[in-house]
Order: sequence, then C-alpha cells, then structure tokens
Amino acid sequence: MSMSKNLTGANGAPIADNQNSRTAGPRGPVLLDDFNLVEKLAHFNRENIPERRVHAKGAAAHGTFTVTKDISKYSFAKLFDTIGKQTPVFLRFSTVGGERGSADTARDPRGFALKFYTEEGNWDIVGNNTPVFFIRDSIKFPDFIHTQKRDPKSNLKDANMMWDFWSHSPEALHQVTILFSDRGIPDGFRFMHGYGSHTYSLINKDGVRTWVKWHYRTQQGIKNLDPAKAGELAGSNPDYATEDLFNAIERKEFPRWNVYIQVMTEEQARTYKENPFDVTKVWSQKEFPLHEVGYFELNRNPENYFAEVEQAAFAPSNVVPGTGLSPDKMLQGRVFAYADAQRYRVGTNYQLLPINAPKCPYANHQRDGAMRLDSNGGGSLNYDPNSNTDSPKQTNQREPLFPSDLSGAAGQYDHRTDEDYYSQPAALYKLMNKEQKELLISNLAASMQGVKEDILQRALAHFVKIDPEYGQSLAAKVGIKIKA
Ligand code: HEM
Repeated sequence: MSMSKNLTGANGAPIADNQNSRTAGPRGPVLLDDFNLVEKLAHFNRENIPERRVHAKGAAAHGTFTVTKDISKYSFAKLFDTIGKQTPVFLRFSTVGGERGSADTARDPRGFALKFYTEEGNWDIVGNNTPVFFIRDSIKFPDFIHTQKRDPKSNLKDANMMWDFWSHSPEALHQVTILFSDRGIPDGFRFMHGYGSHTYSLINKDGVRTWVKWHYRTQQGIKNLDPAKAGELAGSNPDYATEDLFNAIERKEFPRWNVYIQVMTEEQARTYKENPFDVTKVWSQKEFPLHEVGYFELNRNPENYFAEVEQAAFAPSNVVPGTGLSPDKMLQGRVFAYADAQRYRVGTNYQLLPINAPKCPYANHQRDGAMRLDSNGGGSLNYDPNSNTDSPKQTNQREPLFPSDLSGAAGQYDHRTDEDYYSQPAALYKLMNKEQKELLISNLAASMQGVKEDILQRALAHFVKIDPEYGQSLAAKVGIKIKA
C-alpha cells in the first residue's frame, strides 16, 4: 500500500467523512449508494482466511542463521558453504490442536517451523519441539488429528477419543511419554529445543547422500510450566507465549538456538537395528552424536501479523540443492499435504506473497490464477521449451530429488509386524528422576479422568509393557486395577 496522507477508498479516491453513513435525512435509513460504507462492511466480512487445519495458533519472528562449522563434506547447499555465512530465516512457533484463539499454555507439542531464504531458493524444515511423532504413516494423520479436535456431536474435546486412538496405536507411546512429561508445557517458545524430527538427507558435491536429523538447542535453557500455573494462564493470559516472544525481541533479548545434525551413512542405515526412517523413533546419540552446524537468532518481530504470520506457508516440499528428503512415509505424505493446504488456505498464488517469495532471483512459467499480484510475467513466453534465449532455462545441473534405489512390489505393507513400541519410551522413562516420573504419572492420570474402562485397560496394558513400574503407578493413580 503506498501511503497517502488522505484517507482514501480502495480505489484511491479521498474519503471526506468516515464517521457518518449516508442516510435519507438525519434519522433516515441508510442508502445503498453509500459505496464507501458497502465496501467497508463487505471487506470486513472477508478479513479472515481459513485457519491452519492444525497448528492454527502461533507466533513468529524473523532472524538470521549463521554457519559456525564446515559441513561441506555432507552438503553442497550454498547456505553452508562458508563459515560465518548468514542466511535470513523466519521461524513460526505454534501449538497443534487448538483453534486460532486457543491458549498458548496447552499441553501439546509445539510447532517449530523454519524457513531459510537461501540464495538458491527457500528451504523449510517444518518440525516440532519433540524429536519423534505419534504416528509413522500419513494415512493415519487425519484420524489422529480428529481425536485431538472436537467431538462431532458435542463439539467438546474428549479424552476418550485421544486415549481410544493411542491405545490402538502403540507407536504413539514414545511421543505420549514426552507430551505428558515436564516438557509437555514449555514456558513460552524461547525455552525449548526444536527438532526436524524426520530423517532428512544432505547431498555433497560428489553426489554422496547422508541421512541427517536436525536438532536445535535453546541457548536460553529449558523452562517448563507447572500444569496448575499453565491452567491458570490459559484463563488469565491465553497469549502468554506469543507475548513473551514478542516482548523479548522488542527488548532486544534475541533468543538463539544452536543447530546440530546427527549423521548416518547410507551403509549404516541399511544395517541399523531399527528403521532409521521411522519418525516414532530417535537415533541413539551415543552411536550418532550431534555435530555442530551453526546457530540462529530471532531478532525482528513481524511488522504485520496477518501479512507475515497468518499468510506464511511452510512446506517440507521446499528443498534446495544439497538438501533432500528421505523414504520416511510420514514425510512423503507431508510433501504433498502442506502446499495443497496452502493453495486452499491462502490461495493459488500464495508463493508470490512477500513472506513466502524467495529472496533470490526466480523465474518460472506459472501464470494467472486468483489474485496474481505481480506483473504476471509481463509479455514473456509462458511455455517451455522455447527458442527465446532470454527465457529462463532449466539448469541441467542436478535433479531436484536425488536418485533413490527403489525395490519391492507395490503394496500396503503392515507396519505393525514384529515391532518394538516399548524400548525407546522405556529408556526415556528410566532417564527421568523421581519428581519427573511423579509428574509424568500425575499428568497422564489427569488426562485419563472420565475415560471409559475398556479404553483405559487397553492403554494401561501398553504402559505396563513399557515398564511395569510405569504402568502400575499409572493404574494406581487413575484408581483402577489392571486386568491380567
Ligand atoms: C502444519 C499436515 C505431520 C509439524 C500443518 C498443516 C497441515 C499439516 C495441512 C497446515 C499447513 C498450512 O495450512 O499452512 C500434516 C500431515 C502430517 C503432519 C498430513 C503427517 C503426515 C507433522 C509432523 C510435524 C508437523 C510430523 C513435525 C515434526 C507441523 C508444523 C505446522 C504444521 C510445525 C505449522 C507450520 C506453520 O507454522 O505454519 N501440518 N502434518 N506436522 N505441521 Fe504438520
């Protein structure tokens, strides 16, 4: 919007009176030819766009990623090519299940969506504050999310749906144990770690692919909220985390996260004891230690929430040369889901909006579509190949997706055969001290209040399999006897 000193209509014509509608006489009815009034009311009616189906409530900030260690042996991506190199980033934090106005202090994973505006295009890692997820096949995502949302009849959240689903989906136990631990309600967005969660890949200049997991460690330290305090804040200050992030940046207390990768060769992946592409599992940090890459800092608040945060579109399909995906089934589903959601939520030309557009030169043959807001390619050709030497040409350098060895017959393979759902949550439970275990049990028991006995029995049987002490303490706290 180019600013005028005069208030104008959307057509640019000056508005003489913005306080009184046009009426037939001082007390008379309003006239339809008051086009400024009509325009004002009509535009207001169209101010909202659909909220994100998940992660609707969030806050974001701009910042900078700085490289501190040379990882060129793993990736030829331009953003990593020099120590000290800086790349602009935009990071949106969110809760998952609640609506756009819901409380920031809910027990829920926190979204951790990072966009790097690199010189070879935008690269997004759309992760969470947890290293794992509840499910590992995208075919289950809509069902899972329905259990986190509202009951179709009562329009109430219902712990029965949640526990019913989890008790049938034991691969969720690892993430459930994290969610109900002390880390389940972080004290704002600054005091938590972030993770890419999935296995991704990096590709070096010799065409060697390495599997990686991304970790971001908060320099602010971990701080969590006591559940009673979180409940109180949900009423007194539902925007607690949004406010904390915004005010810290205004005060110039710029939060930082150190960036690390865990690294696994293709060979190691073939022989690793677990499926390294299963997002419900972590990789042992003893076997695959963290390698430092750099850090990012958030140092600028958005000027306009709707323009920059509500319209922001993060997508795992945004990869740049030298980075890549993996055969993780969930990730594959996500590669489709995000851009599809954004075409619907924001509109076909969402990638042209300033927050989503690359900051490097770009050119393609996309034309037209609703709300095309740039010159739409002007008079240039809109097909390819063509004989115009000025027209953008494919680079012929590297395939956007690194070649993959595929094998096996197409089929719907049961991912539940011969599975170990229990050792990783068991290891996590063992790591906790006495207070952490007590808090975990008490948080779980609180969420199980009012849940039907058959669902609880099925859920508790899994907790016993993780660790008998875990299951029995939980049953005792809930006040039921586990059936043999
Ligand atoms: C947002 C789908 C799994 C993290 C979204 C959105 C969709 C979606 C449709 C809204 C996008 C938009 O309207 O802009 C899915 C599907 C999944 C999945 C189908 C499983 C197959 C995950 C996982 C993570 C994750 C495993 C983290 C590791 C996020 C985050 C956002 C988000 C952080 C918010 C992005 C933002 O801040 O704008 N997801 N999701 N999702 N998802 Fe997922």
